[in-house]
Amino acid sequence: MTILVTGSAGFIGANFVLDWLAQNDEPVVSLDKLTYASNLENLRSLEDDARHTFVRGDIGDAALVAELLTTHRPRAILNFAAESHVDRSILGPEDFIQTNVVGTFRLLEAVRSYYGSMSENEASTFRFLHVSTDEVYGSLAPADPAFSEQNRYEPNSPYSATKAASDHLVRAYHQTYGLPVLTTNCSNNYGPYHFPEKLIPLVIHNALAGKSLPIYGDGQQIRDWLYVKDHCSAIRRVLEVGKVGETYNVGGWNEKANLDVVNALCAILDDEQPRADGKRYADQITYVKDRPGHDRRYAIDASKLERELGWKPAETFETGIRKTVRWYLDNQAWVSNVTSGAYRDWLNRQYQ
Ligand code: NAD
Ligand code: DAU
Repeated sequence: MTILVTGSAGFIGANFVLDWLAQNDEPVVSLDKLTYASNLENLRSLEDDARHTFVRGDIGDAALVAELLTTHRPRAILNFAAESHVDRSILGPEDFIQTNVVGTFRLLEAVRSYYGSMSENEASTFRFLHVSTDEVYGSLAPADPAFSEQNRYEPNSPYSATKAASDHLVRAYHQTYGLPVLTTNCSNNYGPYHFPEKLIPLVIHNALAGKSLPIYGDGQQIRDWLYVKDHCSAIRRVLEVGKVGETYNVGGWNEKANLDVVNALCAILDDEQPRADGKRYADQITYVKDRPGHDRRYAIDASKLERELGWKPAETFETGIRKTVRWYLDNQAWVSNVTSGAYRDWLNRQYQ
């Protein structure tokens, strides 16, 4: 038995592979294109682990994916690979179309052909699990109920539009070709190995570097935060007992305004590593131009996953965010490693 994990050198994919192999011995074949957002350091602890095989490659490379499927005959494929940063999708949507739409399509085609080659026994347990986002549902008004699996898709950024397209393709491959798919739509993750272009790791990194902490617009946009390891446990649960063809929303019931998140981070840093000049990290907060088309509020109703599959998150926002700050303080070498020249170029472009 083997599973294939795509996007395994990114934030959530790496956490998933590390947790998977910490909990059981089923081998993992990892496929990752190694874009700017990835880091093989994330998987360093598995370098000499016979249970893990890393392959550099694109989910859109049909020949490579076909060869991997024939060679390893995975009993499940978990698709984490994506271009994932909303701001980058606004500055340049092309890569998002290529990976999230065309790449997912090519991957599905390869999997369809592989599925067709299986024995009845293999086919009955095979699963294709597609990892998606709550952003496909668009934006909520303050009094709206949280997103359920019944909400319409109303994506507002090139990123979320391409993720929505990929979700639709996955659904269509189930309805049309009978591919045994599962889709998860998760809220904002945070935790170890999060690339510091995203709000939480960016704020921790900038705070420690004495730089400004950029708040888009009025900072009152709401996100629903989930500790990454809870997302990984939800995916394992869906893979194990999820009903074929179903989608499951994943979230931790942790709605927070961005400004509150940044203030919480600053308060933990004041505690854990006070500024040398005795001032507060919150003094570094700076309001900057808003993100175009900025979604005002996301909130996930995860009750289907809780009720039908018995999943619950282990962390509250308070416990998870403290662990996360501690991880960044203890892993400054990882941060230096990922904040290369290319990273600095991005910051200059995005924040002028
Ligand atoms: P990430 O950007 O940190 O990692 C993505 C990984 O995919 C990188 O390692 C990258 O090299 C790889 N990749 C990109 N294009 C590829 C291609 N064509 N072929 C193979 N590999 C490729 O993203 P993440 O935050 O880890 O997100 C993983 C998945 O989870 C994405 O599908 C994302 O849409 C979804 N998601 C993310 C969040 C979040 O808060 N980060 C929340 C919900 C859902
Ligand atoms: O909701 C799930 C999504 O969460 C995932 O699908 C995406 O892959 C992931 O990147 C994340 O998208 P967001 O746009 O919500 O995350 P980001 O960390 O970029 O921003 C979080 C909020 O903070 C958002 O309202 C924008 C704001 N922000 C972000 C940055 C980088 C700022 O105010 N300042 C910043 O510098």
